[in-house]
Formats: sequence, structure tokens, C-alpha cells
Amino acid sequence: MKEPYGKTADGREVFLYTLKNSKGCVMKVTNYGGIVTHLLVPDKSGRMGDVVLGYDKLADYIKATPYFGCIVGRYGNRIAKGKFKLNGREYTLAVNNGENALHGGLKGFDKAVWNATEKKTGRGLALELTYVSKDMEEGYPGTLSCKVTYTWSDDNEFIIEYEATTDKDTVVNLTQHSYFNLAGAGERDILDHEVMIVADRFTPVDKGLIPTGELRPVRGTPFDFTSPARIGARINQDDEQLKFGGGYDHNWVLNSSDGKLSLSARVTEESSGRVMELLTTEPGLQFYVGNFLDGSNIGKGGKAYKHRYGFCMETQHFPDSPNQSAFPSTVLKPGQVYRQTTVYRFMTK
Ligand code: BGC
Repeated sequence: MKEPYGKTADGREVFLYTLKNSKGCVMKVTNYGGIVTHLLVPDKSGRMGDVVLGYDKLADYIKATPYFGCIVGRYGNRIAKGKFKLNGREYTLAVNNGENALHGGLKGFDKAVWNATEKKTGRGLALELTYVSKDMEEGYPGTLSCKVTYTWSDDNEFIIEYEATTDKDTVVNLTQHSYFNLAGAGERDILDHEVMIVADRFTPVDKGLIPTGELRPVRGTPFDFTSPARIGARINQDDEQLKFGGGYDHNWVLNSSDGKLSLSARVTEESSGRVMELLTTEPGLQFYVGNFLDGSNIGKGGKAYKHRYGFCMETQHFPDSPNQSAFPSTVLKPGQVYRQTTVYRFMTK
């Protein structure tokens, strides 16, 4: 189902799509930024709750958002000093996060109006989103044609399939930036959520959150989520990496690196009984726990999103890969197809 959702500043009409699966669970998506505005899943007693942070109106997303629910591109995460070299030529990006470039620039894919087509697949209702990013848009070379398909399956799986092609060598790192709170958006912070991440290493950062290049074992550190642990259990420990991030805001090096869809994380929230499993084909997971939320974003139903009221699990290649030759490459060449599949699967225990 499709309904008008308002207009952008330059007068483009935007829509809100409702995908309701056979279990009666609802996902709402707008083609402005590919933003997932609502995701309703049951708790252990069958009561529906909205588990993603977001706003009631398009105008609020346009005004100011810390990337609630959107598609991030052309390059998710940070690129040091907004510069990278490709084939010997230096490219300069807008610096929009301290001295670094973040999430694709001043007008990234999160602010683009995507073309949307409603589909029905064997797994459920889907929305196919396409966007063509022009050569040198936000400083990136090559015309990048992107297709992102959201499927809301009858098994309460939010399946995201990404595809992109280019006409010149470029770099690409797409991700999805939903903020989750399994206790319900706006209810409380996420510190009691229990998290497991299938990663023996993470990429430590400098104080601007750029990876140092090291792949550091998590063992014996507050970054070890190989066994389930509460987000809040170690977040205030005296640890340099936690200080740099203001909490967890780091890339985990997922153990599965063969590009196959693999279980990469599981999050459990005791009071609601909700569980979210994350599967991805990507090598990295940016786990960000809303350290920069401060109550100034008033979300759905007038609820203020305070410090750590949501967490993101952004599946991607590692931050700053264009400048780190030892990291898995984010270069895309003509004739190649960028592909990623990520699944957020919801259930109760
Ligand atoms: C980053 C955070 C940033 C947030 C933007 C995350 O992907 O890791 O540092 O503040 O996006 O809201």
C-alpha cells in the first residue's frame, strides 16, 4: 500500500509504503532515503511494538536526523580527512564529521528520493528502490546505479539485497542505518539488551574514529561479545577505545569472511522477550549504541530519544577502506556488480 508522505524542499513528491505480512506485522518505508519509519513486531505475549526509532513526519526527517532508518551511501562510515586515492588520482569529499567524511557526504543516499516499486516475492512483500548517483556526485567518481530491495517476509525477516554497478572505477560501501530498541522505540535506553557478535577481532580507532589499521583480538576487552553480554555491562570501563567512541561505536571484523550469508549477531531483550538475529554477507559490522543521542530528537509519538535509546548494527566493509590497503577492498569497476545481503530476523524467546 502506498500513500502520499509529503514533498522535499525542491518539490519532489515522496510516498510512504506499508508492507504487512501474513502474521499481521507491519513495516513502513518511505522512498525518501529508503527510510524504514516503522517496524512492528510482537513481544512474548503477542503485543505489537514498534522497534525502530524514527519520526512521525517527512519534514522532521528533512530537518535533522542522525540517519534514522535510512540507506547510507555511497560510502557508509568514515573516510579519513575526506580524501582517497584511486588509480593514482586523489578525490576530495566533503568533510562533515570533525576532520573526516561520514556516510556519503552532505547529500548522501539518505537524502535522495529513490524510485520505488512494490513487489511480491516468494518470501513476502517487497519494495524495490533504485537510485542513480551521478558521476562526481558528492565527489565520488563514476555513475553508480543502485538497487536496494527490502523484503518484509512472512517470517518477520527484514531482508535487504543491495546491488550496484558503475561506469568508472569507484568505491562503494552501502549500509542500512536503522536504530533498534527491542523494548520499543522511545521507551528507555538499550543498555539492558544482551548482545552476541560472531567476531574475534575489531578495528580499533583513533580519536576521530578512523581505524588505526590493526585488527585487534576482542578477547579480554569490553569488545568481546563472542558470548552474550549486556550492552551496559562494560560500557563505562576505563578503556581508551570506549572513550574514543563515547561507548561502542566500532567496526567488528566478522569471523565469516567468505561472502556467504552467515549469522553475525543476536540481540535479546529480556522484558519484551524480543530477539533479533542478524545475518550478512559483509565482512564488517559497525555496532553503534546511540552515544550521540541526547534527547534533542523528538521521535514518534512525541518521545525524546535520549542517550543510548537505540542501537545500530550496520553491515558493511570496514571504515576508511579506500585508504587502508590491508582491508577488504571497496573498489568497484565497470563490469563488476556490488552485492550485499543482510537480514534482520525478529522472533521471541
Ligand atoms: C557512526 C556514528 C555516528 C552515527 C550517525 C554511525 O554509523 O558510527 O559515529 O554518530 O552513525 O548518527
